[in-house]
Amino acid sequence: MTTLHEPTTPAAGPAPAAAPATVPTPTPDLTVWPATTTEPRPGDLRVGGVPLAEVADRFGTPAYVLDEAEVRHRCRTYRDAFPDADVLYAAKAFLCRAMARWVDEEGLGLDVCSAGELELAVTTGFPPERIVLHGNAKSPRDLDTALRLGVGRIVIDSPAEIARLAAAVGPDGHQKVMVRVVPGVSAGGHEKIRTGTDDQKFGLPIADGYAQHAIARILDQPQLHLTGLHCHLGSQITSVKPYLVAVRRLVGLMSRLYEQHGLVLPELDLGGGHGIAYRPGEEALDLTALARRVRAELTEACAAAGLPVPRLIIEPGRAVVGPAGIALYRVLAVKHTPEKVFVAVDGGMSDNPRPALYGVRYAPRLIGRRPGTAEPARMTVVGRHCEAGDVLAADVELPADIRPGDLLAVPVAGAYHLSMASAYNLVGRPPLIAVRDGLARLLVRRESLADLRSRDVGL
Ligand SMILES: Cc1ncc(COP(=O)(O)O)c(C=O)c1O
Repeated sequence: MTTLHEPTTPAAGPAPAAAPATVPTPTPDLTVWPATTTEPRPGDLRVGGVPLAEVADRFGTPAYVLDEAEVRHRCRTYRDAFPDADVLYAAKAFLCRAMARWVDEEGLGLDVCSAGELELAVTTGFPPERIVLHGNAKSPRDLDTALRLGVGRIVIDSPAEIARLAAAVGPDGHQKVMVRVVPGVSAGGHEKIRTGTDDQKFGLPIADGYAQHAIARILDQPQLHLTGLHCHLGSQITSVKPYLVAVRRLVGLMSRLYEQHGLVLPELDLGGGHGIAYRPGEEALDLTALARRVRAELTEACAAAGLPVPRLIIEPGRAVVGPAGIALYRVLAVKHTPEKVFVAVDGGMSDNPRPALYGVRYAPRLIGRRPGTAEPARMTVVGRHCEAGDVLAADVELPADIRPGDLLAVPVAGAYHLSMASAYNLVGRPPLIAVRDGLARLLVRRESLADLRSRDVGL
């Protein structure tokens, strides 16, 4: 089978300038790389005991690498930090069959938001009762699939969904549901990923009694069993404070529901959004502090309201898989302009749309050879797509002698990359390779032209 493009072997670029006298190689800053990362020699970066350059040679580029041990370690870190809570992995960050199996084996639940994510998980053996279905606009297929497979919880996001869902469950049926509410808290790394304020599409605002009204309607539907409230404030949140405010506001609503309906809800879902560092020195959310302070806030607020403490549920996505992923690219061209040096690689916004969407920054590294002795220079790593916005890493420091044929590795590429990948320019989505204990194995193969053509049925 021909892949869409063979591993690139580009023509030699312009000769780099003569290098000054040798300087000691600085200790590599691997703080945002998976814990298994080593660099026995400059440029010889290894993850899970596997040289990344070997992965690029064997599977071609662009390619993604996923460190299984890092994913499992992060699942365990969550379970240890939140021993008396349900931790659900947010599949939207990235999902494939292996990921579903690892998360299942590590005892987490799963947050899905489509029939596709749900079916992939369940057909991989993930217990449906440990799955929660989200979505602000669930399709009839999403609901039918959820009911057919027996999903654990369905999170109601709008009033219109109440009657639809009740009808789909049927008068003799029974489905556990939660309600997504909006606590009016602004938090998140970018306005496009802030979902805790009333001016965005998700959930039912608490503020004007909107949520309370919808909940009253749910209580009128005997086939819908309301187990709790849900909120998701946004993504890439690095402070604990917004979660504490959300806890107070959700418990406040739970207290009013108790007064009005005598209702005691056993669950409170605080969503995900836990921020990670994409570059050395950046802040990440302190999970231990989050666990300790949320538990204290919840206990205090419930005591004040005279309510039993509900079971906490959280839904991290990015913080479980983000740091475990690495993107590998081959340099295709280096362009020196009066303004900038552009390093163009064989991937881009079709595998990583985040820079174009949110302006996020990454810290790519040259791998596969020892960098020259010339002082590093500031460069902009760009993709191969037909968009000026197709920038992967603006204004980063890279070896001055970088040239076509070189390999670049970008850490913290596990979340919202492949899951948001597209068929733009028909370059095909990259493969995903798992690494562990010195072994590399293919999890998801490269998308081929035949794959793309298989849908192109009309002439
Ligand atoms: C309902 C819900 N839960 C969890 C998440 C996961 O967020 P993150 O990957 O930032 O942890 C999202 C992300 O959009 C979400 O919408």
